Order: sequence, then structure tokens, then C-alpha cells
Amino acid sequence: EPTKLWGGRFASGPAEAMAALSLSTHFDWRLAPYDIAGSRAHARVLHRAGLLTAEELDRMLAGLDQLAADVSSGAFQPVIDDEDVHTALERGLLERVGVELGGKLRAGRSRNDQVATLFRMWLRDANRRVAAGVLDVVDALVAQAEKHPDAVLPGRTHLQHAQPVLLAHHLLAHCQALLRDVQRLRDWDARTAFSPYGSGALAGSSLGLDPQAVAAELGFDGAVDNSIDGTASRDFAAEAGFCLAMIGVDLSRVAEEVIIWNTAEFRYVTLDDAWATGSSIMPQKKNPDVAELARGKSGRLIGNLTGLLSTLKAQPLAYNRDLQEDKEPVFDSVEQLELLLPAMAGMLGTLTFHTDRMAELAPAGFTLATDIAEWLVRQGVPFRVAHEASGACVRTAESRGIGLDELTDAELAAAHPALTPDVREVLTVAGSIASRDAHGGTAPQRVAEQRERVAAAARQH
Ligand code: ARG
Repeated sequence: EPTKLWGGRFASGPAEAMAALSLSTHFDWRLAPYDIAGSRAHARVLHRAGLLTAEELDRMLAGLDQLAADVSSGAFQPVIDDEDVHTALERGLLERVGVELGGKLRAGRSRNDQVATLFRMWLRDANRRVAAGVLDVVDALVAQAEKHPDAVLPGRTHLQHAQPVLLAHHLLAHCQALLRDVQRLRDWDARTAFSPYGSGALAGSSLGLDPQAVAAELGFDGAVDNSIDGTASRDFAAEAGFCLAMIGVDLSRVAEEVIIWNTAEFRYVTLDDAWATGSSIMPQKKNPDVAELARGKSGRLIGNLTGLLSTLKAQPLAYNRDLQEDKEPVFDSVEQLELLLPAMAGMLGTLTFHTDRMAELAPAGFTLATDIAEWLVRQGVPFRVAHEASGACVRTAESRGIGLDELTDAELAAAHPALTPDVREVLTVAGSIASRDAHGGTAPQRVAEQRERVAAAARQH
């Protein structure tokens, strides 16, 4: 006789296709340890409300301990007749403590408040793991920045050479975004740390239970203020979906650069063998699959977020079964990141940077033109005029097929009378980089300070 949590008013059981559609144990079983933790807390408040004797409470808790052990060993598993994780665990409890005592635990709770609570608990733990994985990627980038304090590359806008920057500055830019992603998960957690347990189906409990006590026992900051909101809201899931998608998108931006840097045309980096793959037909190939999977999975994470938002849109309060569709997308986003983050950390941490190649390209494309203009501004020339003069230098150099630093003194003076040979101090990549020494700039000292702050922030989390 299968244990169903309902059935009193039904003359027959569900049709096969009805049961198949309803089934969720294949994905919500991972909530089982949290469901049991919720049951422990619930048993205690039932006892305090006078609905379980001390002896019953002891037997109930012992039964739940046994069930928890059997779930974690795999000795107890859901069967096909168990509609969901809650149904399966109720069956497990009844098998261990008997129908009479086991049947008392359901008083004052509903799967609606249970699942809303367990999903929050699972996600809070999962997002802490994800945050740790993001910080490992940050660590890998910081280590590369530390290893290459002086390396330069042509900084780009529109993917075109723009101004030379330190490689460390560029890598730390990715770290800044990733640290915000971690910070965002923390902010999310503070909003998610409220327990719906005790909301019942939607209206709250009449049995003198204490939702705040359950919340505290389950590690929440408090119980939700509104039982309808507690059972019907899933903005915590959507926001988590966004936080995870944003991580995917930020990783995809690093990944795209690695893919480009690894081409024969760029030759900025070589991938470590352990973090690359070969081709089944072309023996010479060494492909940046980690980075490509990062790029690809970011699309999947965006899809999970938009799918979830679409599920939530226009659902009337309170609980609707549509909400069972809330879990898989978020579970999937977590799962994908748990695969991706260690691989990204491994790939980035083991990249070899060809700093000679990057240094050679840093001045190419007249990346020092802005430095000429700004040098003139420091001599009192209006920027509009300075911009024109520097442009004239570029035109001359381009027509002669030389770099800006190779212009003769006469050619410089022809572009603007104030352009004396002293301008040559900024006509080197190192001079240009050193001159950008305001807070947040690419000057070596500023970048070293930034690296310290990033490393400290990563340690702090
Ligand atoms: N499995 C459901 C979910 O994930 C919880 C059960 C609520 N079911 C119900 N018929 N009220 O949302």
C-alpha cells in the first residue's frame, strides 16, 4: 500500500500519466537531508506546543536520525509511487516509527511551506560552494598578476589596439567583476535567510507552533513575515538564477579572451596540456575547450534564468503547482558552475603568457597617440588642438610605415611647435603606463596596490 500524502477524498488512485507528470523525486531527492532537518525542528515545536509527548519526541528524533543515516548510505531511496521527496521521506519515517507516531509529524505543515524552506536551505549552501569556486578563479588570476607584475599588452577598445596596459591590470579587471559576483551572492543570502516553515499551505498554522524557533534551528535569521508570501514567492530563486548567470557571463568574457589569445594570430598564451583537448582527425590541434565550454554554458545559465522568470510570470498567489518547475533550472545552473569553476581556475592558473610577444605588439597601432596629446596638454595646449596635432603625427608615421617613436624631431615640431623632443619620455610603452598613476590606473604602483586589495578581499570572503 503506497504512502500518499492525500487520498482520503479520492475513490481511485491517479492515472499512470498523471503520476508520471507529477513525479519530482528524480530532482528533488537532493533536498532530502534538508527535509529531515526541517522535520527535526518541526517535531520539537510540536512537542513544545503540547502535541507530542517527550517520549514521542525522542522516538520521532531517533526515527529521523535513522532515516537520515539510511538516506545518506543509500539504503533508503524513493520508489516510483513516491510523488516527491516529502512523500518518500514520510513513508520512510512511517516504516521506522510506525504509522501512529509518524502520522503526527504532518500536523501544522504543508509541502508548500516545506519545499519553499528546503529549496532556500539547499540554495544557501550551494551558493556558498559556488562563491568558493569563484574565489578560486580569482586566486588563479591574482597569481598570474603576481607572476607578471611588469608584463604589458595592447589594451583594446572595439577589439582594436587602444592604449598599452599592464597584463596584471587587465587580469585584475576580471577579478573585480568576479569579486562583485561573490559579493552579490552574499547580498542575496541576507535576503534569502528567512524561513517559510510554519506558513502551512498558505495561511499559517493554528496549532500554536513557533516558526521563529524552527527558523533559528534551521540556520535562518528569522521566519518570513507573511505566510502567503512565504509559500508563493520565488524571487530568491530567480535572483539566485541571475547571480549564477552573471557568474557565467563574467567567466565567458575571460574565456573569450583566452580563446582569442590562444590563436596563431595572437600567440599571447599557451594552454597547459592538462587543460586543453585534441582533435580526433587533426593531430596538431590543441583546443581551448574549457574556455569554449565556459562560453557555451553561459548561454545555458541565461536560459535557466529566463525560463524560471517565465514560469513565475503572472502566477496568482499563493502556491501553484507551476512552482515545482522552479528547482531544476537553478539546480542545473549550480551544477554547471560546479563543473566549470574548477576547470576555469585550473586553465587560467596554468596559462603560459608570451610576454615578449605582447610587449612587441603593445605600441603597435599607434597606441601612444593619446600620450602625445596629453603631454601637449601638460604643456598648456588645449586638448582639441593637442588631439589634432597627435593625429597629424599618426598620419605622418602611418604614411612612412614607422612607429610614433621613430618620428624625427622635425616631423614632431611640424605637427605642433610645442612638440619638442622631450615628448619622447612618454613615447615608450613603459613611460605611457607609468604616467597613468591616478587611482584605478594602470601604473605599476597603482596596480600592485590594487592586487593587494583584491587578494585581501578574496581572503576575507
Ligand atoms: N513537489 C512540490 C514542489 O516542488 C511540492 C508539493 C506541493 N504540492 C502540492 N500539490 N501542493 O513545489
